[in-house]
Amino acid sequence: MTSQQLARSESPDALTWWRHAVIYQVYPRSFADGNGDGIGDLPGITTRLPYLAALGVDAVWLSPFYRSPQADAGYDVSDYRDVDPLFGTLDDFDRMLQQAHRLGLRVIVDLVPNHTSDEHAWFREALSSPAGSPERKRYLFRDGTGEYGELPPNNWQSIFGGRAWSKVPGDSQWYLHLFDSRQPDLDWNHPDVRKDFEDVLRFWLDRGVDGFRVDVAHGLIKAEGLPDFAGHVAMVEGSGGAHSNHGPMWDQEGVHDIYRSWRRVLDEYPGDRMMVAEAWVHPPARLARYVRADEMQQAFNFDYLLTHWNADDFRAVIDRSLAVVGEVGAPTTWVMSNHDTVRHSSRYGLSIPGARPRGIDAAGEQPDEALGLRRARAAALLTLALPGSAYLYQGEELGLPEHTTLEAEHRQDPAFFRTGGAEIGRDGCRVPLPWHSDQPSYGFGSGSATWLPQPASFARYAVNRQDGVAGSTLELYRSALKQRRVSALGTGTLTWLACAPGVVAFANGPVRVFVNTNDYPVALPDGRAIVASEPLLADGQLPANAAVWLAGT
Ligand code: GLC
Ligand code: CA
Repeated sequence: MTSQQLARSESPDALTWWRHAVIYQVYPRSFADGNGDGIGDLPGITTRLPYLAALGVDAVWLSPFYRSPQADAGYDVSDYRDVDPLFGTLDDFDRMLQQAHRLGLRVIVDLVPNHTSDEHAWFREALSSPAGSPERKRYLFRDGTGEYGELPPNNWQSIFGGRAWSKVPGDSQWYLHLFDSRQPDLDWNHPDVRKDFEDVLRFWLDRGVDGFRVDVAHGLIKAEGLPDFAGHVAMVEGSGGAHSNHGPMWDQEGVHDIYRSWRRVLDEYPGDRMMVAEAWVHPPARLARYVRADEMQQAFNFDYLLTHWNADDFRAVIDRSLAVVGEVGAPTTWVMSNHDTVRHSSRYGLSIPGARPRGIDAAGEQPDEALGLRRARAAALLTLALPGSAYLYQGEELGLPEHTTLEAEHRQDPAFFRTGGAEIGRDGCRVPLPWHSDQPSYGFGSGSATWLPQPASFARYAVNRQDGVAGSTLELYRSALKQRRVSALGTGTLTWLACAPGVVAFANGPVRVFVNTNDYPVALPDGRAIVASEPLLADGQLPANAAVWLAGT
């Protein structure tokens, strides 16, 4: 047992590790390629686990690696109990998990319950069975409307664009897909569906996973009768504003029963297994319902992700987040980026810093890369100083920007195709990581192939260029993660401090945090700097768009 592991299991709160954990999202296609075919895989992840342990995170969340035709990069699962050959084998998974645990890292896996792939055995059976047959009842097949059934059953739109229904060839019925036509929605009122997913949970829990990230957790139950709904939610818009997820397909009361039953399954297992909800719901009080004592442990805080680079907005979202989940006794989470959103280092470099565009291409506004990075580094010191659990998206510890000039011919996101390019999509945040500036594919794999092209600028961000380099973003994350652990910031309490306009200032345990969102320097109180996103000025001031942790209260 390593000393780190020992400390973990002996610590008094070892049984609630997720309350303060820093969880690193691995997007398997783009993390590390073990066999040189250009697509990341499980053996690749295993070889890089020591890097993650040394970074100082507590856990890893893996996006889907299950059997899948990859119509939505694996969020279209055809077999929930197997690894897709692209990513390796079940043995590779077991080896990866064992190695992670040996290094003191917990592992959570993605669960995709709202829809299956159209190549799932159930959906194939449904298509080859007649309308009204039991095989069709596990999905949402309905008769068409119009004189000949030539019109869809209702007016719902797909998140990825176009209508949410596809017609069964040679038949009077249509099936519902809130996402791509190759992702048919399951009918969660069907007992087979409930039973099978409990078995899937057990399958992975038995293998030793520490928890699940639940995809589209607010979508499983649809309102009775599937009533028409004029609104439309686009993939990269998310919650808030005019397009919040209200409507008969979102956040229905019935979803909570499902999570209560899953919680009972998790509670049968030793250790503290957890679930985190991907639920784009509004207002925050609705989100808190997913983390009530007998449901999930966490939900992603997308309001924080959507916050613009503005001190008042940050303070407001932090207060709201802490208050709302506090009422149900759950910890909050803090998240700035993931595989569905333009990387925050690029968002913070836009003229509206923090705005969430529908992807960025060469024709769109190009972010100010240096300014975006500077703010992203400061934002890391904000996020990692807050009490609760934080999620990091692979590459943010390198300050990696979005690929903002990816040509259309390389794009793979179904949202791009279903909207005829209106939605630029999510490929720009999914580009394979640069590990070594002087190797083919920047060290992503043994060969030069990468499933999405890497921009030349990635060389500057490669791990080898930052490892051990004072002031690099990687070293900033390493120090912040270490200090966060040493000072127990994740289990601490936040107290706001008086400060100048445009500054976010608070104390958490032995640390005082100052984030200067202004374009000019500000004075700081006395105190030793423990970590700073930029060197402090000669007169001790905090520079523009920078953050510092000071010792002492
Ligand atoms: C979630 C995933 C996203 C996927 C969608 C459909 O939002 O994060 O990547 O496309 O669900 O499964
Ligand atoms: Ca590979």
